[in-house]
Amino acid sequence: MIPLARKPWCWPLARWSSALLMAAGLAAPALAAPDTDVSNKQGFNTDVIYQIVTDRFSDGNAANNPGGSAFSSDCSQRKLYCGGDWKGIQNKIEDGYLTGMGVTAIWISQPVENITAVINYSGVNSTAYHGYWARDFKKTNPAFGNFTDFSNLIAAAHLKNIKVIIDFAPNHSSPASATDTTFAENGRLYDNGTLLASYGSDPNGYFHHNGGTSFSNLEDGIYRNLFDLADLNHNKATVDAYFKNAIKAWLDLGIDGIRFDAVKHMPFGWQKSLMSYVHGYKPVFSFGEWFLSANEVDPANHYFANASGMSLLDFQFAQKVRQVFKEGSADMVGLNQMISDTASQYAQVNDQVTFIDNHDMPRFQVAGASGRKLEQALAFTLTSRGVPAIYYGTEQYMTGTGDPDNRAKISAFSTTTTAYKVIKALAPLRKSNPAIAYGSTTQRWINSNVYIYERKFGSNVAVVAINRDLVNTASIGGLVTSLPAGSYTDKLTGLLGGNSITVGSGGSVSNFTLAAGGVAVWQYTTAITTPTVAHVGPMLGKSGNTITIDGRGFGATKGTVYFGANPVTGTAITQWEDTQIKVQVPSITPGSYGVSVKTAASVASGSYNGFQVLTGPQVTVRFVVNNATTVPGESVYLTGDKFELTNWSAATPLGPLFNQVVYSYPSWYTDVNVPAGSVINFKFIKKSAGGTTWEGGSNHVFTAPASGTATVTVNWQP
Ligand code: NOJ
Ligand code: NOJ
Ligand code: CA
Ligand code: CA
Repeated sequence: MIPLARKPWCWPLARWSSALLMAAGLAAPALAAPDTDVSNKQGFNTDVIYQIVTDRFSDGNAANNPGGSAFSSDCSQRKLYCGGDWKGIQNKIEDGYLTGMGVTAIWISQPVENITAVINYSGVNSTAYHGYWARDFKKTNPAFGNFTDFSNLIAAAHLKNIKVIIDFAPNHSSPASATDTTFAENGRLYDNGTLLASYGSDPNGYFHHNGGTSFSNLEDGIYRNLFDLADLNHNKATVDAYFKNAIKAWLDLGIDGIRFDAVKHMPFGWQKSLMSYVHGYKPVFSFGEWFLSANEVDPANHYFANASGMSLLDFQFAQKVRQVFKEGSADMVGLNQMISDTASQYAQVNDQVTFIDNHDMPRFQVAGASGRKLEQALAFTLTSRGVPAIYYGTEQYMTGTGDPDNRAKISAFSTTTTAYKVIKALAPLRKSNPAIAYGSTTQRWINSNVYIYERKFGSNVAVVAINRDLVNTASIGGLVTSLPAGSYTDKLTGLLGGNSITVGSGGSVSNFTLAAGGVAVWQYTTAITTPTVAHVGPMLGKSGNTITIDGRGFGATKGTVYFGANPVTGTAITQWEDTQIKVQVPSITPGSYGVSVKTAASVASGSYNGFQVLTGPQVTVRFVVNNATTVPGESVYLTGDKFELTNWSAATPLGPLFNQVVYSYPSWYTDVNVPAGSVINFKFIKKSAGGTTWEGGSNHVFTAPASGTATVTVNWQP
């Protein structure tokens, strides 16, 4: 059953009246589950995101189109502006194009003011149509609209139960040259109209001046320019405050989520302090872009997703799906391996954002190739773990082999393509079947071309069968699932050649033939009456922050939330419904905790692990140690007496520290989020495969600033 759409205005009334009914001892009326509601800004597992390059979607207001050489009215010059804007997106929301597809969230281009210069790169005129060349993060890009247009878009989206995610790129301003200040706009950065600095005139060091990155290692990519983009120095208090105030302004406009650009290229500690700020103010689902190439598996990427307070775009997922369905360079066994690997690599694998293509890779559809490959990849993504994001125009089979051809103006708004219908059929299942939104994944039948997998949450089940062989059918024998005995029709209603199945006792499925190129989705839903935590968001906070617990079977009456063994009751629980609880983080020893729920009837849920209780508000401090000489294979790490500094862990201290760009060996450094105003005891450790060498002497002691940023420099104590 698809939950009834709930208008935002009737929500408080509905809750109030249900509370009244309950007080009167009457049963509360059935409501759409709040975990699936547009008001849920912390949990996106039931959503389908649609990624829009704002300039390339729909022109709703010709009056804001840039003039002159910056504009290509027919969009034949794809590095120029093409006229798309927020009014255009609003129109496509209001005419039902997005809701008709089952889209419940949009991710739009960075909305902030960008440079207007037209840059000639190797003879090609290029503009900031993509939104990644910011000039003032506190103003709007006038080609997309003004603040009223933005607010109108948010309101229109929310009315149609669509969440709005903005792209946000605090790594850099815009292209700049270290030697030619007349190039473009020299990276000039403004604070609501007031110039902060340009790349060529930067007395306060708001930018890094370390040249362009060779992408040789993490440090090089963080502290040098990404291509020619003027790289910002987040260790400066002004820059830090600027971005916290800027994101506050966009949060105040009602955004529901943030996609952070280039997170691999900014200091981890600064980003964690930013997330602590966001989640302490108006917590929203956030995910970063950490690009991974095909077959690239990076433990630093997993660490970021597991510890930073934001999720990541799931490039491991995307690259493997492309290999399996688009390129044929990996098979279903590899696909299943990726699913099982990522399930352990990502602590919250359901929160990573899955996709099959985007604006930085060739579009999935290859000219002349069967559309079935794309349809299968979409069906797989929409029924897999993670929050699916569909790139605009994929539903129209748009082609284009790279930037900017993968960002052409949308070719059509047809609602009758098979891809559109596949999305329309599967997207609502994320709301109606918690197995798809929240469930685990189990491989049930596999060979190189066939993958049958099961999603399961409580007794809710979805089973998906895909035969990627477009020529030969597959005979499926011996399939066992968790589906109860009965007959199941394909939820895709045969759109991709799927069949019905008959399930006997013990979940065994009668032998059947899966069509060539076939995809079938069978499912079973049932009420969950025992408390089951499906999702906690955000996964990081300090005492007093509010977090959202989504799940099933919490009951109508307020019970207890546990952080580890620490109970929270009473007014610190600000909302308690059968599928959603809002609770304030208690004042407990900082650390990592499992979150669990006990109903009013004293039935306890399992634990949702990994919630980080921070010590307090966070600031970023750069720790530098000089004269730390090491032998080959040995690196320097940092530890100290705060949870943020790993509580004196010798096994898993912070690091390895960097030693090449901002400071050079034998100096080592790292930017760390630490509790504001706290007195910090710390030491450095040398570690190698062979062992651990602590610094000698007394602890170093440093008082973190109450706000802003700081640097503390010490000598290694032998
Ligand atoms: C990644 C974005 O997705 C890409 O399109 C952009 O050019 C770079 N980051 C720089 O902002
Ligand atoms: C070793 C450090 O040297 C010391 O200062 C610290 O108190 C302990 N580790 C904590 O275990
Ligand atoms: Ca326009
Ligand atoms: Ca950077």
